[in-house]
Amino acid sequence: MERERVSFFCSECGYESGKWLGRCPGCGGWNTFREAPVKRAGSRARSRAGSPLGAAPGAVPGTRIASLTAGHPPELLLGAALTQVERLLTHSGEMDRVLGGGIVPGSVILLGGDPGIGKSTLLLQLAAAVGNGPGMVLYVSGEESRQQVQMRAGRLGISCDHLYFSSDADLDRIQSALESVAPALVIIDSIQTMSHPDLPMLPGSIGQLRECTAELVRLAKLTNFSCFLIGHVTKEGALAGPRVLEHMVDTVLSFEGDSHQNLRLLRAVKNRFGATNEIAVFTMGERGLEEVTNPSALFLDGRAVDIPGSVVVSALEGTRPVLVEVQALVCPTVFGAPRRATTGVDYNRVVLTAAVLEKRAGINLANQDIYVSVVGGLRVVEPAVDLGVALALASNFRNIPVDAGTVVMGEIGLTGEVRAVGQVEQRIREAVRMGFRRFIIPERNLDVSSRYPDLEVIGVKTVREALDRSL
Ligand code: TYD
Ligand code: MG
Repeated sequence: MERERVSFFCSECGYESGKWLGRCPGCGGWNTFREAPVKRAGSRARSRAGSPLGAAPGAVPGTRIASLTAGHPPELLLGAALTQVERLLTHSGEMDRVLGGGIVPGSVILLGGDPGIGKSTLLLQLAAAVGNGPGMVLYVSGEESRQQVQMRAGRLGISCDHLYFSSDADLDRIQSALESVAPALVIIDSIQTMSHPDLPMLPGSIGQLRECTAELVRLAKLTNFSCFLIGHVTKEGALAGPRVLEHMVDTVLSFEGDSHQNLRLLRAVKNRFGATNEIAVFTMGERGLEEVTNPSALFLDGRAVDIPGSVVVSALEGTRPVLVEVQALVCPTVFGAPRRATTGVDYNRVVLTAAVLEKRAGINLANQDIYVSVVGGLRVVEPAVDLGVALALASNFRNIPVDAGTVVMGEIGLTGEVRAVGQVEQRIREAVRMGFRRFIIPERNLDVSSRYPDLEVIGVKTVREALDRSL
């Protein structure tokens, strides 16, 4: 079994090659190639085979490992041994919903976000909730000392007897910590600080990231613990490291927010066990993150009514509709080409909407600067907000307010037609809950109105018609 292989690798990016190269084809660096130490091809398998990790409670010692190396005969997919997976509940309704109803045992979840946004805080709170509830937790930090994490826990008012801490960044030693704690949940803060002892590259290099993630995924599936990996993001907002990390894990969560505001959004970018784009809203306060169970109320809080340029739209975030206020400001261009700037809505869709207003509704925006924003820091990418953006622009341009009790939804096509949107009924229900009674919706969606005889539901076919009915 013992196999020796001498090869070379780039000390910068981990690119591997059978021969020494002067310039790395991976990162373009010069003189970065080093000779890899003789790979211990059998060593990992050896250390694993002897590890009690294989002997999880209830298992016949060694069977899990043996099955991994020897292979299993195929089994009936929907056979008699069909088992219901018990998800770990986190005691945060918002968190559980984003995950698709709790944490699936054995799943690996990557959490990305800007430095200082609150990733460690979120997961420490989660760790305590799981530790005080369903199972043992191991928190591994390669970034902070026990004392620092203790101080954070103190600030958050956390007490938990089932929460273990390790500041090790070495995967072999983490593996022994796993063996002694036998956790249901593991938190790795962050994956960029972890290093695999078999690899000579620096922590955070692509090779290390890939290997450490692969190893943790393997261990998680093997012994059925769930694992959160904290990942740093680059300046551009992408998760640092290769995209391949996102393919290796089951779920990718992105933690977003504005450092000037205390609002935080947790979004499921990928989820093998639930809906994507599902969001949870939190506020960061003195005592950590608090969940916002009624985001519509938060986003509409303090809304100025009867101001031209303000329109309430319903945006579907994952499976949940959220009401937000769209604001538009239109003013004559003083100098040069007209400006178009957007916050929280898609720039290109706003430009398109302005062009449609110009051509199909006779609103002359060609010599006007346009600013459109979503209040509260939410980013809505759904085309269903088009009609709201159009009405906000027209309302500000004509200086006529849109009725403050109206919610607008509809996608706009290039011919000025208002196209149908999905989940109209859910959106209407959420708006009714928030006290709205008047709706401007696509004509094609009008069949739902019969179910709401006491509401004023207006179906429109075109943008022009929507303007006529609301301004
Ligand atoms: P942290 O979780 O360390 O962020 P990350 O792990 O994403 O880098 O949180 C950092 C910020 O959160 C820090 O600026 C302080 C703030 N914070 C609070 O406002 N309240 C709190 O209770 C805690 C623990 C942190
Ligand atoms: Mg941190």
